[in-house]
Amino acid sequence: MAEMVMDQAQRPGGLDRAEQGLLGAPVPRWEGAAKVTGAAPYAYEQSPPGTVYVAIVPAAIGRGQVTGVDAGGAEALPGVLAVIHDDPRMPAGEGNSRAKPQPNTGRVYHYGQAVAMVVAEDGEVARAAARLVQVRYEETPGRFDVEKQAPIREHGLGFLPAIDKGDLDAAMAAAEVTLDETYTTPVHFPAALEPHATTAWWEDGQLTVRTSNQIAGAARKTIATALGIEASRVRVLAPFVGGGFGGKTGVGPEAVYAAIAAERVGRPAKVVLSRRQTAYVAHHRSHTTQRIRLAAGRDGRLSGIGHESVAAQNEIGEFLEPVPFGTLPLYAGENRRFRTDLVRVDLPATGAVRAPGEAVGTFGVECAMDELAHRLGIDPIELRRRNEPEVDPTNGKPFTTRRLLDCYTQGATRFGWERRDATPGSVRDGEWLIGMGMAAALRGNFTVEAQARVRLEVGGRAVIETDMTDIGTGTYTILAQVAGDMLGLPMTAIDVRLGDSDFPASAGSGGSFGAGSSAAAVALACEDVLAELALRMNAAPEDLRLKGGQVSAGGRSAALADLVRDKAVEGHGRMAPGKVSRATSQASHGAQFAEVAVNAVTGEIRVRRMLGVFDIGRVLNRRTAQNQAVGGMVWGLAYALSEDGVVDTRDGRFVNPDFGEYHVAVNADVPQIECEFIEEVDDAANPVGAKGVGELGISGAGAAVANAIFNATGVRVRDFPVTLDKLL
Ligand code: MOS
Repeated sequence: MAEMVMDQAQRPGGLDRAEQGLLGAPVPRWEGAAKVTGAAPYAYEQSPPGTVYVAIVPAAIGRGQVTGVDAGGAEALPGVLAVIHDDPRMPAGEGNSRAKPQPNTGRVYHYGQAVAMVVAEDGEVARAAARLVQVRYEETPGRFDVEKQAPIREHGLGFLPAIDKGDLDAAMAAAEVTLDETYTTPVHFPAALEPHATTAWWEDGQLTVRTSNQIAGAARKTIATALGIEASRVRVLAPFVGGGFGGKTGVGPEAVYAAIAAERVGRPAKVVLSRRQTAYVAHHRSHTTQRIRLAAGRDGRLSGIGHESVAAQNEIGEFLEPVPFGTLPLYAGENRRFRTDLVRVDLPATGAVRAPGEAVGTFGVECAMDELAHRLGIDPIELRRRNEPEVDPTNGKPFTTRRLLDCYTQGATRFGWERRDATPGSVRDGEWLIGMGMAAALRGNFTVEAQARVRLEVGGRAVIETDMTDIGTGTYTILAQVAGDMLGLPMTAIDVRLGDSDFPASAGSGGSFGAGSSAAAVALACEDVLAELALRMNAAPEDLRLKGGQVSAGGRSAALADLVRDKAVEGHGRMAPGKVSRATSQASHGAQFAEVAVNAVTGEIRVRRMLGVFDIGRVLNRRTAQNQAVGGMVWGLAYALSEDGVVDTRDGRFVNPDFGEYHVAVNADVPQIECEFIEEVDDAANPVGAKGVGELGISGAGAAVANAIFNATGVRVRDFPVTLDKLL
């Protein structure tokens, strides 16, 4: 076992000696073709012999109690095997590694909550029968309108405590220039293309769950907890996941339902949520209300910054959108206040969605900075420069790598920022008003424990095994690149096996920590392999050179395959956070730029181009990193202009829980989007020096679009999405 606890900045020696030239190279995604041609099977495409189908029965009220279930009509339908509604293990909501799913007591916490299931011989019968299940309720009035609920200040939810440093009120009173504005964002659905789905089966008391989930190891524990069995009796498989976007970080009721159904009928069982059910049974991003206060001198230097917000959660959800998280290390200013208050609602659970905190939080703070720049007559980039802190201004910790100023400079040059006219509404192209905007991007970087195994098999092929997932992010590819480089093997000589909870535990995919932490674990496992190879070469590990399947040391050379002719070499790697993780302030950074055209007659908004320059530490794969960054920018564009989950405040239903009415960006909305990276290896982040990229691209992207709209029109919209009616 090669281990690195991040007590200091360090990296495996073998990484520095790597000569295969794979790390960072724009290698295409290994599983890409399989995914788009249908060769990569998804969770619902599993059909072990005898598989039965499960359909969820959703609650038809917004709040209350189930008082009875009449399953007669459903059970009478040919092909129906069981209607299950009284198993106390059926969760009422989602669970995760920290929170056990709320057990079923018949209580209805929100409209569309799973309250029963039908098990049938085929999917159509199951769905038809689900509509025949008569559920009786005692309905109680619900809290469906977030704006009408009083915020709760002491709530204990979420990981981000309230922070109050200095005296923001006094700073505001004393400042030459102040800003005090409120920004609001609506419900966002994660909107992964592959809906939540699970196929589950039991063999000799062992449960196998083939599911669509971002974190296989945590899912195993959560499912075991929900069922009241040992985790060792559960195996979670998630080798292919069709997008997660945070919506698959926990375990939804449907996965546990499948396991219970399989147990009840003694056959494999599978379930898929419809698009509409996904909106209710899985979580969404909360509405947010954000009050931003900035206290500044005429020179733009901040003496105070406040980001006080409100986010929603229902009675059983454990999460709270950490709205000001990205603002904490962003700008200087002695007097600082950050908090997120809670409003309790009777709506589906809110949870982690695409950069929880920063995605929406950067809308508030980065629009506010743009407004302050405008009031002061200072260029928005210059204003940010003047407020660039030396150390984390909230906790006093040193930054690890922070190239934010370089992102501004490089981005401004490439985007042609000097062509921007600071006077809003002054640039026209026919009937279109043209504007440019920018914003900072920041996403906290997390060091999360991860393990991996690398086996150099007899014959010379390498096999990587970890329970890490690939949710479309490129994990398969980058892990092969790491191992290929360190073991001197081409990509074709490496097999990567992921998404099996029986494999060494990783952090999974979430919080932008997946690539860095799992790549680190693989690098360490390779280091372990190198140590054994060195023994077989009778050489010191640091003298080994590996390239093209050859190993050399001290003038001697051998084929890698020969070194493992008789006996495979197996290496284990483990990376864990430590002192340096706790003592430093870590983040990925970037500068976002957008140019928009707003039709002066109709108010139609078109984004013409976007550029992001990102500081992400080591780039593991230029192509997949770019896919991540640009994908994030597309999300930013989409939530700036169109994503808007609407709640019917009369009964707690969503008005638009589908792709027909909830508008994510489509190709026609997406203009020329470019990104580039400033690569500085961050040895304090993890042993491969890569910082998170997955959620960085969305941070600040929406604000850049909103700021460009202001520059184009002179209209400041503080309520996302910015739709044309708000401009006219
Ligand atoms: Mo992410 S929203 O932490 O998968």
